[in-house]
Amino acid sequence: MSAQFPVARPRRLRRTAAMRRMVSGTRLHPAELVLPLFVKEGIGEPNPIGSMPGVFQHTRDSLRKAAHEAAEAGVGGLILFGVPAVKDARGSAADDPDGIVQQAVADVVADVGDALVVMTDTCLDEFTDHGHCGILTPGGEVDNDATLERYAAAAVSQARAGSQVIAPSGMMDGQVAAIRAALDADGFEQIPILAYSVKYASAFYGPFREAAECAPQFGDRDAYQQDAAGPAGEALREVRLDLDEGADAVMVKPALAYLDILRQVRDAVDVPVAAYQVSGEYAMIEAAAANGWIDRDRAIMESLVAIRRAGADMILTYWATEVAKKLQ
Ligand code: PBG
Repeated sequence: MSAQFPVARPRRLRRTAAMRRMVSGTRLHPAELVLPLFVKEGIGEPNPIGSMPGVFQHTRDSLRKAAHEAAEAGVGGLILFGVPAVKDARGSAADDPDGIVQQAVADVVADVGDALVVMTDTCLDEFTDHGHCGILTPGGEVDNDATLERYAAAAVSQARAGSQVIAPSGMMDGQVAAIRAALDADGFEQIPILAYSVKYASAFYGPFREAAECAPQFGDRDAYQQDAAGPAGEALREVRLDLDEGADAVMVKPALAYLDILRQVRDAVDVPVAAYQVSGEYAMIEAAAANGWIDRDRAIMESLVAIRRAGADMILTYWATEVAKKLQ
């Protein structure tokens, strides 16, 4: 072995923390983090979510505090989910001008609406008594076109309450076009749509369904959300359709199990791409860490760096405030 062997030594750039920091190819910034928040109608105290340690169903009051804390930490945005006191078959609370989401959005926008972006998830599953994301046919299928009218009404109602970005998550065909037309007709042509374009039917949504109280009462969402093993090209087709319908930004969800899809989407489009690190991804790391099986803080950062590296411009994560504080 010659004295110079090996000439190429990649370890040279890894030796010190200062060196690693300087050559880092993937950086996280608080502004690209989006915090999902749950607000529940009619509760007096915040209600902890068992499967998501550290996450709560908020009261209007505790939501304001959480929103302030996020803004102070420099988080880029919030996305609100509401749990109404009363549910019915058509999800009437979704477009109730005095509904819990509408009230909460108005509160939060008044408080921190200049410091960060206040978005609303637009769907029906939190509002329907059957827990599906739309109106049902007599046979129990989700009726795509009847649901579009409900999404449009909910989106307009959220915009009237002050929502700064509408984020439709229900995977109905044509939902972006229906919402865009309704927003424009109501004078909200300046309100962007962040489309959950690529959304897989995922076991990783389990804990969210406890948080948002929206588990389907029968069946599953396989007939409207994408199949993890679905056709090649399906994700890009969904993205293209949403962009043609007027989406301003698109989302891939969940994140960690779909990093390949995230990269494909990032390389294919010229709009911002968000990724949603969903409830099950959060719960897995929290649960393993609580058992002492992994290093919680390192696992959180490693997962976020992976999502960023795969191409996400924005990351929805339940750790947004905590991580933003650490990055500050
Ligand atoms: C539907 C919606 C879901 C999530 C966000 N929006 C649940 C579902 O499709 O069943 C999941 C988010 C998460 O798991 O963190 N409104």
